Amino acid sequence: MSDSAAGHDAGTGPANGAAPEDENAPRRVIGTPPPAEARILLGTEAAGGDGGEVAREIPADPADLAHAKRAERVVATLFVVAMLAGIGFIVSYVFIGVHSVTNTLHSNLALGSCMAIAFLAMAAGFTIWVRHLMPAVEITEERKPLRSKEEDREAFEQTFTEGADASQLLKRPLLRRTLIAATVPVAVAPIVLLRDLGPLPGTSLDHTVWRKGMRILNYAPDGASTPIRPGDFATPGSMTTVVPAGYQNNFDALAKATAIIIKFAPGQLQAPTVMNWTVDNIVAYSKICTHLGCPAALYEQTTHHILCPCHQSTFDAARGARVIFGPATRALPQLPMTVDAQGYLVAASDFHEPVGPSFWERS
Ligand code: FES
Repeated sequence: MSDSAAGHDAGTGPANGAAPEDENAPRRVIGTPPPAEARILLGTEAAGGDGGEVAREIPADPADLAHAKRAERVVATLFVVAMLAGIGFIVSYVFIGVHSVTNTLHSNLALGSCMAIAFLAMAAGFTIWVRHLMPAVEITEERKPLRSKEEDREAFEQTFTEGADASQLLKRPLLRRTLIAATVPVAVAPIVLLRDLGPLPGTSLDHTVWRKGMRILNYAPDGASTPIRPGDFATPGSMTTVVPAGYQNNFDALAKATAIIIKFAPGQLQAPTVMNWTVDNIVAYSKICTHLGCPAALYEQTTHHILCPCHQSTFDAARGARVIFGPATRALPQLPMTVDAQGYLVAASDFHEPVGPSFWERS
């Protein structure tokens, strides 16, 4: 056994809780001392010396017993309320059916109310119990030294040095160098795999395939997409998914270019909708949500709200598809429209701003 190890066994270092050998060593709490040790640490002075019975740390009763009695009644009342609410929850669950929308509404209301009252009453009861029934005491727990004992530090250093010698790493440079050479490619491999993410998008996300005069097709998944005339909209209200003619089967192009058109009644469209880009109260917007790029595919006719189902971003279709709710921060871009010589809806140009999530603009 080494000298240092022998010194460690003999217990020559400072005892737990005593001052460290180095007065400047940092002191910090490490874990929680066992209950018996913690009580001794806290109660030594009060006990009046070594080996004596440790004095009581926490008084058994609060200072004002009359006040505590009143608090006891309040707490008991709250617990009774919690008990009644809990019984109400069970009764509601058993006796209120959920076979109709109205009954389900009543059931949810009753269950939620009972549960909330029960939890609130319990929480209030416990709070009052702790603050007004239990004695108020302040306890300080001494910190233990962070720094290891000198003999432990020396023992560790010796073990480390012996291990390094035994590994032969320092004595055999050939092994050391070939090990380093073997490690470097393995460390670089994950960086090389980044190439699988594909080429950088460059400016390709700034534009879509929409061009001036390109017909707007009513999208049909079976490939039978058809051009649209303004007169095809018999009544205002519905939302239609549209795609650029010639690209109806090109899903790479449609990922950016898919749009929606909505027919409004006269006078419903308002700023910041660009009226020059509408035809006969028909307006077209990008269908790609400006939050994270999901299709903004839901439309509520009565409120004119376009809803993205992914994170509930909501856009006001009558007012330039501006954001009125949700995480999106940008309006859906409006597609400039006009009609061609045959009377079909066509694009007047590409979108005037990038479609989709805002980070696409940073190409
Ligand atoms: S992608 Fe539309 S709200 Fe998130």
